[in-house]
Amino acid sequence: MEIYSLEYKYFYLIFVLTNNKKNLNMKHIIAFAGSNSSTSINKQLAAYAASLVSGVEVTVLDLNDFKLPLYGMDLELSDGIPDNAQKFLDIVKSTDGIVLSLAEHNGAYATVFKNLFDWMSRIDGKLWNDKPMLLMATSPGARGGATVLEIAQGRFGYMGGNIVGSFSLPSFDDNFSDGKITNEELNNQLLEEVEQFTESL
Ligand SMILES: Cc1cc2nc3c(=O)[nH]c(=O)nc-3n(C[C@H](O)[C@H](O)[C@H](O)COP(=O)(O)O)c2cc1C
Repeated sequence: MEIYSLEYKYFYLIFVLTNNKKNLNMKHIIAFAGSNSSTSINKQLAAYAASLVSGVEVTVLDLNDFKLPLYGMDLELSDGIPDNAQKFLDIVKSTDGIVLSLAEHNGAYATVFKNLFDWMSRIDGKLWNDKPMLLMATSPGARGGATVLEIAQGRFGYMGGNIVGSFSLPSFDDNFSDGKITNEELNNQLLEEVEQFTESL
């Protein structure tokens, strides 16, 4: 009995050590939406796309956990840059890849995302730090947030962005259910982009 328990302890120690080593070597990606909606369809899409990336650890972030005051030059001068902008930037810097799905509000970024983007840009103009990015957008409409996607594709390159894949999911309610894309053709399109993203990590 004593021998068994010693063997068991030894086995457990080896398991913990090898598992920790594996985690240290494993790539880590973040997934988040440019939205603060508690039912965000973009967060659902980002989480799904990240789940398709094999052999990585995924952290799904929520912008509600990084609340920020509305950017203003006067506020920056009087109070400095809020901690949450630095915290989010630190997370970006420490990850191996980014899966981001942008909500489209009136043909542009949702305010919560633009606000975070603006605050972070005051710390580091190249805020995306060359991290491989899978950039997406979805909306209930037929254009699937294509306008905000184009805006980000045109801009992020100047801000340290390294977009290695992009995807727009149109008509979210018709094409996404139970945490995944139900339209096979669209799902295959996403899989191709995910493959490119995975190879770039
Ligand atoms: C203020 C506002 C403006 C919107 N403008 C657009 C738009 O320009 N294009 C579009 O496709 N959807 C638009 N929508 C609908 C959003 O795509 C929809 O609310 C979507 O769920 C937002 O993504 P989220 O759920 O990830 O926040 C708008 C919604 C709001 C509240």
